[in-house]
Amino acid sequence: MTTNFDQLLERFHATLETFDDALVRDAVARIGWAMPVRRLEPHPLTCLRQLDRIVELAPAGARPLVELLAERRGDLHWGQTYSEADFGKTFIDNYGWLEVFGTRGHFVNDEVAAGLLILGPDILYPDHHHVAEEIYIPLTGGTEWRMGEGGFRTREAGEVIQHTSNVSHAMRTGKEPLLALYIWRGGPLAAKSTIAGTTTRGKD
Ligand SMILES: [Fe+2]
Repeated sequence: MTTNFDQLLERFHATLETFDDALVRDAVARIGWAMPVRRLEPHPLTCLRQLDRIVELAPAGARPLVELLAERRGDLHWGQTYSEADFGKTFIDNYGWLEVFGTRGHFVNDEVAAGLLILGPDILYPDHHHVAEEIYIPLTGGTEWRMGEGGFRTREAGEVIQHTSNVSHAMRTGKEPLLALYIWRGGPLAAKSTIAGTTTRGKD
């Protein structure tokens, strides 16, 4: 059985529709959902083992999407922006993202990029920032999020987190893995993020 990529986009869209939030509604309404598919080779990552637990944690509204991710994980083109040299092997083995649509994702969209981020338990994703505005919706709870000069705050599944252009932000997982849905808009969608004085190319 081959993966039905239309189903990936439909379930991603349907999951976004479950959040009763003005910022998310506005973002979803501005997205042109009739996107051409982009043929990408499968690219699995070590972090995908976290999906077995993430399926158990995801809220009901996100479960069809998360089950698709878990079942078809080996067919999808997962990405990493960092290498072991940046944050070490533990981070790299517990980190990855899937661009559902955007300038590089499974569907072509030059205005908005969106997808899903995975982090394993007990991982610190250090402070970074980028020009694009970013909306995050965690689909698992318990991760601590920091923005600007603020401290870490634990966020539950379904909370909407907005990182405005160039604001510094970081995440720290607890005993459970994180799956978070993201939307990037209003900036270069595969541009450089700045991390502790260095730059890397790509989403986060
Ligand atoms: Fe970010």
